[in-house]
Amino acid sequence: MTSAEWAEVDRYLVETLVGDGDSETFRANAAAGLPPIDVSPPQGKFLYLIAKSVRARRVLEVGTLGGYSTTWLARAVGKSGQVVTLEYEPRHAQVARANLERAGVAERVEVRVGAALDSLPVLAEENPEPFDLVFIDADKVNNSNYVRWALRLTRPGSVILVDNVVRNGRIADANSRDAAVRASREVIELIRDEPRLDGTVLQTVGSKGWDGLAYAIVLGEDD
Ligand code: SAH
Ligand code: DHB
Ligand code: MG
Repeated sequence: MTSAEWAEVDRYLVETLVGDGDSETFRANAAAGLPPIDVSPPQGKFLYLIAKSVRARRVLEVGTLGGYSTTWLARAVGKSGQVVTLEYEPRHAQVARANLERAGVAERVEVRVGAALDSLPVLAEENPEPFDLVFIDADKVNNSNYVRWALRLTRPGSVILVDNVVRNGRIADANSRDAAVRASREVIELIRDEPRLDGTVLQTVGSKGWDGLAYAIVLGEDD
């Protein structure tokens, strides 16, 4: 199988199960010069379904870009839910706000601009209700730091997802010098070593090539 065939399958799945209702978001992102590194539409719907499955009302996202994944998560939390999404680039945040507005979910999303490692302590200081789901999809080198912050901002039963941890299969190379590959291995080993976490990684292929999503749950006393 080639990546062209994976993309062909994604086209069929989008046509059949996902729909292209957010094509305006992709157009706006491209027009603003944002890199096309959003989750794919089937992955976006998968995030939505995970959030619905756990009846998430509060979602934290690290890495907004143009708000495509944010839109799916915002749909999942419903009218009374909230998504807080952290983005370093003011321009990305601005495009995201416009996309979220157009999608009709802006009132349930708070986009916070700044380096996530600056925003997370501020957020924690506000002592918010725990988040039910955290989606980590920003600068890959900080993945382990983001998971550690996610642990402080969640409760037993919460779900923590980390995007892009397989990196064309390169994570199997223990000697890789690639910083993102090393960071992927580090976060996977953190999920193994941290007693409050249990998780796995699902490899994915599709229009975004070969990658994978880490899925972890926060454990409590009874687990
Ligand atoms: N979740 C988005 C894609 C995010 S791409 C989607 O699927 O639609 C990664 C984003 O993380 C980029 O917009 C990038 O600007 C942002 N980012 C990179 N470093 C960051 C940091 N230190 N803090 C917060 N956001 C960061
Ligand atoms: C990149 C980042 C992502 O979040 C993604 O889904 C794909 C690619 C990147 O930085 O290249
Ligand atoms: Mg990603």
